[in-house]
Amino acid sequence: MNTFRTPILAVANQKGGVGKTTTAINLAQALALQDLKVLLVDLDPQGNASQGVGVRLETIEGSIAELIRSRDYPIESAVYQGQGIDLIPATPHLSRVEREMVGITNSELRLAHRLDAVRDRYSVIILDTPPTFGPLMNSALNAADRLIVPVDSGFFALMGIKELLAEVDEIRQGTNPRLDVLGYLLTLADPTNIAGQTWETLLSNFKEKVFETRIRRSVKLKEAPALGKTIYHHAPDSVGARDYLGLAQEVMMRLGIGEVVQGEASSRPALSVVQGARHE
Ligand SMILES: Nc1ncnc2c1ncn2[C@@H]1O[C@H](COP(=O)(O)OP(=O)(O)O)[C@@H](O)[C@H]1O
Ligand SMILES: [Mg+2]
Repeated sequence: MNTFRTPILAVANQKGGVGKTTTAINLAQALALQDLKVLLVDLDPQGNASQGVGVRLETIEGSIAELIRSRDYPIESAVYQGQGIDLIPATPHLSRVEREMVGITNSELRLAHRLDAVRDRYSVIILDTPPTFGPLMNSALNAADRLIVPVDSGFFALMGIKELLAEVDEIRQGTNPRLDVLGYLLTLADPTNIAGQTWETLLSNFKEKVFETRIRRSVKLKEAPALGKTIYHHAPDSVGARDYLGLAQEVMMRLGIGEVVQGEASSRPALSVVQGARHE
């Protein structure tokens, strides 16, 4: 009997601007370059992850909002197919759906049920989450098996992690006992003392849970989403492409999925961006 369950990873930290979306997009693409079939789910009403892989928000019809709102909405109508990555996008409409979820019993379990239905079509599912605690973040914590927690390299970086872990604990004791942190990821790393101190503090607090790979601050990583491209389409030879490939390999090792494909990112064929090719 095959007992393998496709892992669902949420990239989460309620602090904004720590590199959640950058990580979700580029980790998804790096895993796809390792021959894994990846579903990226955008749970932020700002739709940054959707735009970042090349989908224009105004062209979106089916999205995560419809899937959460209506049990009968066909999931196929919300999945945009790319090569290697599929996307369930988000639009600003999602914030209205989030407000409707408040007070509806078990509405925060709907996402988990929806994803269960498509789970075995993918090798891994990655959720990009919004920068606030609320029904959407709760939905992500209920659907996920593991969390990746990006921590930026600034002075206030570790503030808020305690609250996140308290939330995780609450969900684990209630509706999702298997939820756990896969790893803490230093993002926006630069040569400053503050970045060095954040790294040391992370290591002393979370030890082997800290990913060895640090994501360096780089101009190419910042430019890519505005072009609707992952780093592997925008600058496959850049440090950002290498860093996220390193992260992908660590993630695969920790999850025990796939086989690491050797060689630099640049020597692998580029995948095409999702670009609104909706699956009918
Ligand atoms: N490694 C990096 N180097 C340079 N800029 C980055 C890097 N990671 C993220 N950014 C930029 O920082 C900002 C916040 O990143 P983002 O991934 O959107 O964070 P979040 O989703 O946590 O709010 C964005 O402008 C993004 O392009
Ligand atoms: Mg974001």
